[in-house]
Order: sequence, then C-alpha cells, then structure tokens
Amino acid sequence: MALLDLFDMAGFAPIKTSPIPAVNVATVPQRSPLRYPGGKTWLIPHIRAWLKGFRAKPRLLIEPFAGGGIVSLTAVMEDLVQRCLMVELDHDVAAFWHAALRFGPTMKELVLGFNPTRDAIVALAASQPCGIVDHGFRTLVLNRTRRGGILAPGAALSRAGENGRGVASRWYPQTIAHRLDEIDRHAKRISFCETDGLQLLESLLGCSNSRTAIFIDPPYTAGGKRAGKRLYAHNEVNHPGLFSILADSKQDFLMTYDYAPEIVALIDKHGFSVVQVTMKNTHHAKVPELIISRRPLFGEEASR
Ligand SMILES: C[S@@+](CC[C@H](N)C(=O)[O-])C[C@H]1O[C@@H](n2cnc3c(N)ncnc32)[C@H](O)[C@@H]1O
Repeated sequence: MALLDLFDMAGFAPIKTSPIPAVNVATVPQRSPLRYPGGKTWLIPHIRAWLKGFRAKPRLLIEPFAGGGIVSLTAVMEDLVQRCLMVELDHDVAAFWHAALRFGPTMKELVLGFNPTRDAIVALAASQPCGIVDHGFRTLVLNRTRRGGILAPGAALSRAGENGRGVASRWYPQTIAHRLDEIDRHAKRISFCETDGLQLLESLLGCSNSRTAIFIDPPYTAGGKRAGKRLYAHNEVNHPGLFSILADSKQDFLMTYDYAPEIVALIDKHGFSVVQVTMKNTHHAKVPELIISRRPLFGEEASR
C-alpha cells in the first residue's frame, strides 16, 4: 500500500516530500568512528540547510539522543554551530564518547595496535573494562565487529563480514584513527553528557535562547514498532511527552521519526511542520522517514 494511502486512511493530510532527497551516504564525509544502526548520515543535507537558515549561527546544538553523533560532529566540524552538546543514556556508548573526547590520542594508539582476531574480540567482549579508555575502546571494537553495529544485548559477531573478511571486515584502523584525530581537534567545542536526553531537554529548554538548535533522533518505538527495541539497549521513550516538551518551548528543532500514525497524530496535535524523505533501509527496501520541525523549513506549507 502506498504511503499516501496510509495517511488518507488515518484521516491526515498527505505529507509533502522534501525537495532535498536522502543523500547517498558515500557522498557525505563520515565523521563518526562508530557504525550506528539508524545513523543519520543520509540526513546531512537537511541538517546543513536547517542550520544555515538561522539568522545568526547557532551558539549551541543539543543532540539528546546522540548515538554515533554524526549530526553533532558534522555541525561542529563544518562550522555550522559554535558548540554542541551530545547526550546519550547507553553507558557503553557514553564511555566511548568520554574516551574519544578526553583521551583521543590514547584511543588512536589502541586502535592502530589492535589485531582484530575473533579470539581477541571474544576476549575483549568478556572482559571487565578498567577505566574509561578501556571501556570506550571495548565499545568501539564491539560496535565495529558486531553485525549491523548493534550493541544491544543479544547482538552477534559478524560472520562472513564484508568481502568475506570475517569479523574484522569493518575494522579500518587508519580510517578510525583519522576520525578520532578530527574529534580530538574539535573536542573543545564538543560537550558530552551521559544522562536521560528527555530529562535534560526539559530542564535546558527553559533557559535556552534563539541561538540554540536541537536535533532529535529518538529510537523508533512509537506505535509498538520493534526496530528501536532490537537495535538499542535503551529504547523506551515517552513520545507524547517529548512532543509536549518541544511544544511548550519556543526552541527551534529538527526531529526525525519513521512513519507511525501515532506520530502523525502528535504532529497534527501540536501544529508542527513535517516533510517526508524516502530512504533505503539496510535490506534495500524503500521506507518513508519524517522530518519534523516547529516552523516550515523545506517547503511544507504548500500541503499542510
Ligand atoms: C536512533 S539512535 C540515534 C542515532 C544517531 N542520530 C546517529 O546518527 O548515530 C537513538 C539513540 O538514543 C539513545 N537513547 C535511548 N533512550 C535515550 C534517553 N532516554 N536519553 C538519551 N539517549 C537515549 C539510544 O541508546 C540510541 O543510541
């Protein structure tokens, strides 16, 4: 069934397609050392257009569900914002960001010195990390050697891997080291906080200003969808609560969701703007993603 039929059945106005297509991820600089399931590299042209549209360059970009952090990293490295604040609840992912931002050169040495045999990876997975660098490095290795980059409980090691190279098929030491170098170079402008993004957002929104931008990419679990549950250890998000927090503030935000009637209802309830972008998922199926904002950003006023 076509997407527009779904919207008509749910009784909502059709959602306009963004004039900016989802970009082929190979054409965008990859800046995160993590391979992130649900990563937003494809969205980068929208992010650039949104942030360049501010009257003055945003002083702060807040990313309350940071994951691989591709949006924050791009915004700082391309000088689209002055600083960013990345927030993530997953303790392992948080350890990676603490280590990368505070101990970049040591992390780089560990990456260049690691021999990613199956035995070494299994031993690392079973180990209890001592200290933030050990922990962050363990996260990085497991992320790059597990199938789909999935760190959630139950994730398996890659088997055949890319080009039959086995577990190490996504372990590119020079590339990862280069990305760590770039993060280290910009670390003074990147803050990271391990906490609940929703709570942090609620407390920050009261005191932020027109030069704060918020990018929100929560786990996709609205309407009982399972993708977010399988991919992330932390996946319970109060979606109506998130929409209400945003509606109660005046803050400029960009938020992504996959299509779920519950989300379309929340968009309508709060009078937010929305466009859709067609994405190819990991199984090469075409799926719609929603890009939601407070004000029309991508020509959506024509249809809603
Ligand atoms: C869709 S992913 C973000 C992907 C990211 N935009 C990227 O491009 O790499 C959602 C992330 O939110 C995290 N998360 C889930 N609940 C959270 C919460 N309450 N506070 C902060 N982070 C949370 C998950 O661990 C996951 O890393």
